[in-house]
Amino acid sequence: MGSIERRELMKAAAVGGIALSIGGAQSLLASNEARAQGAPPRAAGWPNRSLLDLLKIDHPVIQAPMGGHISPDMPVAVSGSGGLGSFPCSALTSTQVRDVAAKIRAQTTKPLNLNFFCHVTQRDAAVEAGWLKRLATYYTELGVNPPDFPTSTRPPFGAEMCDVVVELRPQVVSFHFGLPEKSLVDRLKAAGCVIFSSATTVTEARWLEEHGVDAVIAQGAEAGGHRGMFLTREPTSQVGTLALVPQVVDAVKVPVIAAGGIADGRGIAAAFALGASSVQMGTAYLLCPEARISALHRAALKSAKDKLTAISNVLTGRPARVFVNRIVREVGPLATGVPSFPLGAVAIGPLRTKAESQGSADFSGLYAGQAAALGRELPAGELTLKLAAEALQRLGALGRAG
Ligand SMILES: Cc1cc2nc3c(=O)[nH]c(=O)nc-3n(C[C@H](O)[C@H](O)[C@H](O)COP(=O)(O)O)c2cc1C
Repeated sequence: MGSIERRELMKAAAVGGIALSIGGAQSLLASNEARAQGAPPRAAGWPNRSLLDLLKIDHPVIQAPMGGHISPDMPVAVSGSGGLGSFPCSALTSTQVRDVAAKIRAQTTKPLNLNFFCHVTQRDAAVEAGWLKRLATYYTELGVNPPDFPTSTRPPFGAEMCDVVVELRPQVVSFHFGLPEKSLVDRLKAAGCVIFSSATTVTEARWLEEHGVDAVIAQGAEAGGHRGMFLTREPTSQVGTLALVPQVVDAVKVPVIAAGGIADGRGIAAAFALGASSVQMGTAYLLCPEARISALHRAALKSAKDKLTAISNVLTGRPARVFVNRIVREVGPLATGVPSFPLGAVAIGPLRTKAESQGSADFSGLYAGQAAALGRELPAGELTLKLAAEALQRLGALGRAG
């Protein structure tokens, strides 16, 4: 165990409450040392162990899958530290999924989450042409040609990808934008995979439970990236994490994973207080060296202090929380007439590429949650341990106050 890890965990042990933290942090220490010696991990001290027991992981910290934003080293580091590492596969071919899984598996046998999308792309030639017209002044200003929309776009999770995932057998398969058809969910479960999906409303959470998920990710409106919404298209239906998590906990029997605006131990402790059994954190991991983000995105995150974020559909066709930049401000944040996901991204593509080549993020998708300013530039494994230690410390302090 590294000296920073030891210091963080000892700090938690020193100030933590009896029930939650002295024992918890010491067990955490013991468990990390045991892991280092190849012994099975042990964990204690968390008020709700349902997800830890389900996945046999040490810390209830799930690093969010973030499409196009992380390297395979990130889940390796997070899972290696006792959290759950995730890799986003929504934009990958089956060969790429096989390759990335092999890369991760060569470095760790710890639990891994592979993540896929269940989007539906609705083609409408009139909408697509109308949107290019809407953006015409930008194409002219930047001196680029409007793009041709492709005849086919990235497919949602389907039977062919299911064959690959059944063969790879990751411990967890998570979905965004709903679930695939029942026969595919059944095949994944029969292969031993635990199934998660995101809910942005109580109705979506109930639907997911009825359709077989093993845990619901309650994604509050603070969350960075795409809203997982799939039963509603109405952005005003989106609820903050503090309000959503306890209502989802009351509505479903499966474990609830809180997501959205959680960036440090305080947020994790709050999620447990609301009844969650784990957290899923995205933006907090974007400043890790294992993230694959542009220099412009990194700079925006590092100067996040008072940076405004908004839920906008103009970058891809689906609502996503991003830093407000020129295209979001001038055309959005929520516009009508945007082509269906992911065609919105095709329309913006040439503008983004040209602007970025000139050092401008005016047309980039700068995905970020509302707690972006709490981000820390730490290696992903170290951040995971720090988050767990901070949360135990905070839970312990709250326990003493009670
Ligand atoms: C850059 C970025 C990309 C994301 N991509 C995905 C994705 O591919 N699949 C997914 O299920 N969730 C994705 N999300 C959403 C996360 O799973 C999670 O809900 C969110 O990060 C939680 O909020 P936070 O960013 O405030 O921690 C993404 C989030 C971010 C910030």
